[in-house]
Amino acid sequence: MTSEKMIIEVEGLMKHYGEVKALDDVSFSVKEGEIFGLLGPNGAGKTTLMEILCGLRRFDEGKVNVFGLDLVKDPYKIRSLIGFCPQETLLYDLLSVRENFAFAASLYSLSSRKFKERVEFSSKFLGVEEFLNRRVQQLSGGMKRRANLAASVIHDPPIVILDEPTVGFDPNIKREFWELMKALKDHGKTLLLSTHDMYEADEICDRVAIMDEGKIVALDKPLILKKTIGGEASIRVRVKDDQVEKALKLIDKYNHIAKDNEVQVFVANPWETMPEISKKLISQRILTEKVEVVEPTLEDVFIKLTGRRLTEEYK
Ligand SMILES: Nc1ncnc2c1ncn2[C@@H]1O[C@H](COP(=O)(O)OP(=O)(O)OP(=O)(O)O)[C@@H](O)[C@H]1O
Ligand SMILES: [Mg+2]
Repeated sequence: MTSEKMIIEVEGLMKHYGEVKALDDVSFSVKEGEIFGLLGPNGAGKTTLMEILCGLRRFDEGKVNVFGLDLVKDPYKIRSLIGFCPQETLLYDLLSVRENFAFAASLYSLSSRKFKERVEFSSKFLGVEEFLNRRVQQLSGGMKRRANLAASVIHDPPIVILDEPTVGFDPNIKREFWELMKALKDHGKTLLLSTHDMYEADEICDRVAIMDEGKIVALDKPLILKKTIGGEASIRVRVKDDQVEKALKLIDKYNHIAKDNEVQVFVANPWETMPEISKKLISQRILTEKVEVVEPTLEDVFIKLTGRRLTEEYK
């Protein structure tokens, strides 16, 4: 459950790397118990922002508070309240998963009783118990990432920060990881994660900050972003390749964009117009693969805000 208590508060954050402005006046707050997403393309400043929150990087200007503590004054206290799961796994290949956990725990001075308790709990919870005694080098990519997540929360921090936790995963493992992140939330953790994946942001985040070139360009619940910025729903029609011309003649009167054998139709009331278009296509015996209403995505939101796509792969 999310409360209205803000546990991460960032105000006017600025960070330069020489001439590069990596963060440009970034302000936002994260509510206790929510999954908060940073969605943005390469170079948007996501990793920089997360590393600053974890005390791994300095910043030039601004204010960061975590549980009311000032990051500049209390970096060590804050570090113990955060579990950071970086994109690159931080595990030692030659050590077993359990030994890696012990190493991670030693950074937080966990007592041996607490350590035992935590290994038992998090290995069950995050599904790593079967390979606790295996060397990291013998694990699959998915197992490694799970072990990495378990290691980053070994000290039971209330906040978990994950940098692109599912990048490069195949869809099944991605879904499995989404469930893990939701389970952490259900367990009372607050999650801040970065992603380029609009579906991931949409599926698991309670609120999303869209970042571009060091700035937050929009911030809200995914549904609200899609409704207020993404634009109206439209109708997508897909016909057999040799039917395109015939179909376009029928659809011509509507505002539309055609690409290959797909036509996107923009009307004020797509749900009412869809059957009308279907009927016309059927009456002319046009072989139609699909007629559907498509809602705007977070990708559409990003395009509206920046004029660019989030990633090349969605072209
Ligand atoms: N150590 C560094 N030295 C110089 N410039 C850097 C450094 N780290 C990041 N940058 C620059 O700062 C900007 C933000 O980078 P950052 O890694 O925070 O982006 P990102 O959103 O995490 O990108 P990606 O999605 O590719 O991980 C980029 O222009 C990057 O080139
Ligand atoms: Mg990054």
